[in-house]
Amino acid sequence: MYSTRVAGLNLNDPFVIASGVIPEVPGLMRRVCHQYRPAAITTKTFTLYPVESHHSPTIVKVGEGCYINAIGLGNPGIRALEPNECVQIVSIGGSSLEEMVQASLEGERYANAIELNLSSPNRRGYGADTASLVSDIVSAVKSSVKRPVLVKLGPWDNVLSLAGKALDAGADGLTLINTMKGMVVDVEEFKPILSYGTGGISGRCIHNLAVRIIYEVYREYNPDIIGVGGVFTLDDALELLSVGAKAVGIASLIIESGFEAIPKLRASLSLYLQRKGLKLEDIIGRAVKR
Ligand SMILES: Cc1cc2nc3c(=O)[nH]c(=O)nc-3n(C[C@H](O)[C@H](O)[C@H](O)COP(=O)(O)O)c2cc1C
Repeated sequence: MYSTRVAGLNLNDPFVIASGVIPEVPGLMRRVCHQYRPAAITTKTFTLYPVESHHSPTIVKVGEGCYINAIGLGNPGIRALEPNECVQIVSIGGSSLEEMVQASLEGERYANAIELNLSSPNRRGYGADTASLVSDIVSAVKSSVKRPVLVKLGPWDNVLSLAGKALDAGADGLTLINTMKGMVVDVEEFKPILSYGTGGISGRCIHNLAVRIIYEVYREYNPDIIGVGGVFTLDDALELLSVGAKAVGIASLIIESGFEAIPKLRASLSLYLQRKGLKLEDIIGRAVKR
């Protein structure tokens, strides 16, 4: 009733754990898979070699359901990636095309799909700073790996053009959206609270940005999209699906309420579809004028 297919992945339901919210604890990803059965787990972004996280504070709550974080892509390097019996989307970042190709090749052995992080605002030279190379990076990774490749983009003014370039270069799907670069200042000390200075805003504060961007990208190109951004309730998820997302990523809600949020959303969706007499596919893209 609510299975879905996105970028060549068959998912039991649309609810995917978005990149970055499972803490770095050995075996935790497998335990989360076993206990909460998310349709897929996206790993935190891995680079080819280990990267240190920024110093704390790295995450601050800035409003009801809103966060700003700058972890800085801290990770133990792609060789630390563990296999998982859930569908695993391996997020890959890097500071060059060569690094991303190499990390994707290493990551693909435990991946059902690769997600290229061309959008994190939290480390100079990585993520958003590599978005201008989207065509070359996607072509190079696509010609190197066998798994489907998703490209994760941010909530920027040029996102429609970058999405087009990613798809032209062969991306199998898009993950929209990453966090929005912002800042929070301590007015006792008059200095930024996050050690990195700036950070990425997530959660409810970016939800309507995600709705609008997914709508515009879906209307223009009709691609496979994992919609991410401020999903806290079933209605939020239905909004992203109705503007064209085929699956929905959850990050800040998990920080706020834990992984239990995933089975709760699944149960609410099931009741909703029964009550309405609808299938998931009846909803996807329904709010998009063509
Ligand atoms: C603490 C934290 C860490 C994150 N780490 C990553 C990351 O490593 N790679 C990535 O592509 N996105 C990362 N994100 C972005 C999320 O995957 C997601 O795109 C964003 O938070 C919007 O979804 P949300 O509103 O449900 O939080 C992170 C977000 C948070 C809050």
